[in-house]
Amino acid sequence: MSLSAGKFLETLAGTRFATPPVWFMRQAGRYLPEYRAMRATTASFLEFCYTPDKAVEVTLQPIRRFGLDAAIIFSDILVVPDALGQKVWFEEGEGPKLEALSDPSQFGRLSRAHLADRLAPIYEAIRQARSALPRETALLGFAGAPFTLACYMIEGGSSRDFAKAKQWIYQHPESFGLLIDLLVEAVVDHLAYQVGAGADGVQLFDSWAGILPEEQLFHWSLHPMMRVANGLRERHPKVPIVAFPRAVGPAALMYRRPDTFTALSIDTGIGAHWAAKELQPHICVQGNLDPIMLLVGGKAMEREAIRILDKLGLGSFVFNLGHGIVPQTPPDNVAKLVEIVRNWKSGA
Ligand code: CP3
Repeated sequence: MSLSAGKFLETLAGTRFATPPVWFMRQAGRYLPEYRAMRATTASFLEFCYTPDKAVEVTLQPIRRFGLDAAIIFSDILVVPDALGQKVWFEEGEGPKLEALSDPSQFGRLSRAHLADRLAPIYEAIRQARSALPRETALLGFAGAPFTLACYMIEGGSSRDFAKAKQWIYQHPESFGLLIDLLVEAVVDHLAYQVGAGADGVQLFDSWAGILPEEQLFHWSLHPMMRVANGLRERHPKVPIVAFPRAVGPAALMYRRPDTFTALSIDTGIGAHWAAKELQPHICVQGNLDPIMLLVGGKAMEREAIRILDKLGLGSFVFNLGHGIVPQTPPDNVAKLVEIVRNWKSGA
């Protein structure tokens, strides 16, 4: 791979630089005044996601401001249930709402037949964003992992514990498995179209993996993610895939599969020291500054960022957060954090 592929993709391919590449989950969003201004031009969040010129513009905003090493296409994980035919909407201040699946017989109403048509504006946005971005800035596509999508589809929205979804797993594992099967295929389609449109890599968000007991993780979180990765590689053999199984603790070891995932994104709960010892010798690690540190800024943020860099910066590493940027974040703290990462000098 040539150097012109940029720092993020080069790092995923095994090259080491003096300082790691850096980007942030939810780097486009409400903490940026220019995002809020653009967002105010469309009432419906999904319609906003499906308007290519607006999605492209907000994808580029954090790149212009901070010169990050990767852009992530502006969209949402819940476009997949929407494209399968489930009703999805976003309520101001309440987050996502879905017409909950309450019975396996309702799965029959879901279908992949119209996915490519419904999500075509996202692929168009990727084409436009790719051509607008500097060559050295990677463009990431993404999707929710099957388990996290199934949680929202059964629960009908966000939840503290996704108790309905878990009850379904424990009482009717076969039918939950049918939903997962459909989602594996839909997510492979969605990611393959994104790569076909110009995404240089993809990230799979299993944001709710951590609600499962450890014994269930392989079956419902990791195995479906592996099926997605393998399905995507059948269509795009070389595409980098970042896996983000959030809040799984030491079970992150199970996801340490360099033949399947190119990098493992770790959440705030995983120790940088432990990750350097247990994960990084085997797989590129991405993470994991606490997004709340970005609210605090100043010396506390700097100390914590440098602690993470000192632990992980010598190996294969992408600097990121442990979860998404929160809306109250001062943009100046984000600029300062990028500067800290770019000026870091290893003590070794
Ligand atoms: O910059 C980026 O990261 C790209 C865009 C992006 C969004 N959502 C935009 C968004 C990405 C990668 C996502 C992923 C996503 N969406 C996840 C996985 C990551 C995670 O946070 O664990 C999940 C679980 C969702 C579902 C979702 N979408 C929720 C729970 C919410 C409401 C919470 C909130 O922050 O309001 C959304 C809405 C959403 N998605 C917003 C944005 C910028 C805010 C809505 C708005 O701007 O009107």
